Amino acid sequence: MSMQIVDADGKDVESLIEIYSSPRLYHNREEASWFVQSFFDYHHVKVVKHEEKVIGAVFWNVVEEKHHGLTEIADFWIDENFRRKGLGERLLRAVIEDMKRFFAKDNYTVRKVLLTTGEDNEPAKKLYEKVGFQMSAVLKDLFAKGENELVYILTLNS
Ligand SMILES: CC(C)(COP(=O)(O)OP(=O)(O)OC[C@H]1O[C@@H](n2cnc3c(N)ncnc32)[C@H](O)[C@@H]1OP(=O)(O)O)[C@@H](O)C(=O)NCCC(=O)NCCS
Repeated sequence: MSMQIVDADGKDVESLIEIYSSPRLYHNREEASWFVQSFFDYHHVKVVKHEEKVIGAVFWNVVEEKHHGLTEIADFWIDENFRRKGLGERLLRAVIEDMKRFFAKDNYTVRKVLLTTGEDNEPAKKLYEKVGFQMSAVLKDLFAKGENELVYILTLNS
C-alpha cells in the first residue's frame, strides 16, 4: 500500500471539511469548515494520503510564544479502515520532527508537546505512551459529566 505523509495544502481543505462534517464529528458543514479553516489560517496540518485521498491528519499549534518551547496537538486521527498499520505512529513521529524544525529555524527548541485524550481511549493512550508521552493530569468532567480527559506531555528538552 503506498502512503504519503505530507504537509496539507489548500487543495486538502475541502476533503478535510467533508470528513469533519460527518455526524460523528462536527455534524454540520459550518462548524467543520470553521474548525478546519482556522487551522489552515494559523496552525500546522499534516496529512496521510492513500491514492490522493486524505486518510489521516494531525493539527498542531505553538502554545503562547515560541521561546516557551511548547506545542499542542489539537486533533489527530487515522481513517478507521487504515488503523493498526503503523500509520498513526509514523504521522505522530513525523509531526514531532516538523515541530523541531519549525522551532530550530528561529534558534528555539521544542521543550514539551501537550495533548489530551479521553480516559477511555485505549488505542490513543497506548500510542502516546509508546512514543514517550507521560500522563500528567486528569481533567475531570471536561466535555460532560463523567467524561474525563487525560493530559499527556512529551518532554523533549527540560
Ligand atoms: C489513535 C489512532 C490515531 C492510532 O492510529 P493507528 O494508525 O491505528 O496506530 P498505529 O498502527 O500506528 O499503532 C501504533 C501503536 O499505537 C498503539 N495502538 C494503536 N491502536 C491500538 C489498539 N486498537 N489497541 C491497543 N494499542 C493500540 C500500539 O501501541 C501500537 O503499537 P504496536 O503496533 O507496536 O502495538 C487511531 O486509533 C485513531 O484515529 N483513533 C480515533 C481518533 C483518536 O482517538 N485520536 C486520538 C485522539 S486524541
